[in-house]
Amino acid sequence: MDLETLLYSQGFGSRRQCRGIVAEGRVRIDGVMRDDPHADLPVTPGLEFEVDDHRWTYREKAYIALNKPAGYECSRDPQHHLSVFHLLPPQLVERGVQAVGRLDQDTTGLLLLSDDGAFVHAFTSPKRKVPKVYLATVRHPLDDAQLAKLCEGVLLHGETKPSAALAAEQRDERLLELTVLEGKYHQVKRMVAAAGNRVEKLHRERVGGYALPVSLAEGAWRWLDESDLAALRGTP
Ligand code: URA
Repeated sequence: MDLETLLYSQGFGSRRQCRGIVAEGRVRIDGVMRDDPHADLPVTPGLEFEVDDHRWTYREKAYIALNKPAGYECSRDPQHHLSVFHLLPPQLVERGVQAVGRLDQDTTGLLLLSDDGAFVHAFTSPKRKVPKVYLATVRHPLDDAQLAKLCEGVLLHGETKPSAALAAEQRDERLLELTVLEGKYHQVKRMVAAAGNRVEKLHRERVGGYALPVSLAEGAWRWLDESDLAALRGTP
């Protein structure tokens, strides 16, 4: 792969812009400036290079975990708030990374993003039934009847079949841990309302077997490596 293509594949701009970045001497590999856009390189995943002193690692596909703060929409074209895409480097946005399912503007926690269409589809398809674990702070103290209803299934407005949680556990008087397989619009908020309570705060802790890393600060993102992806495909 030549240098122009390397930069282009990683979202550094159009081919013309990438050629310009290289020709202007802004790229370094192993500390050595490389200014020939057509220089051929043995590119393997993990290759590190610098553009304007910014270190970047080559990845064929981007798989990312973001710790989503409240006040961000998952849309690229947000209506009332900032977009989660404002939290990512422009290269990732440019190369077409998309959110794997959506979280509400006021929901915090684990949001996956990728530019691998098959991956996005696999994790958003209702057929796949990927467990998602949420922590909901609710307005009224939880009781056994509410927990039972959530597990037995509640009929959401406009739906014909009840939605049942895979698990509903009380962590605290007003803290509910809910595991759901579906990803319908306002799924958790509607289920909790149908069970006679109200979600005041919602946080996603886990998707499949992958938990939001405690070291990942709000608003920060990280690459998912092979072991993270394997965990994701597993179960909690
Ligand atoms: N369920 C909701 O109600 N909101 C979310 O953001 C995610 C799941």
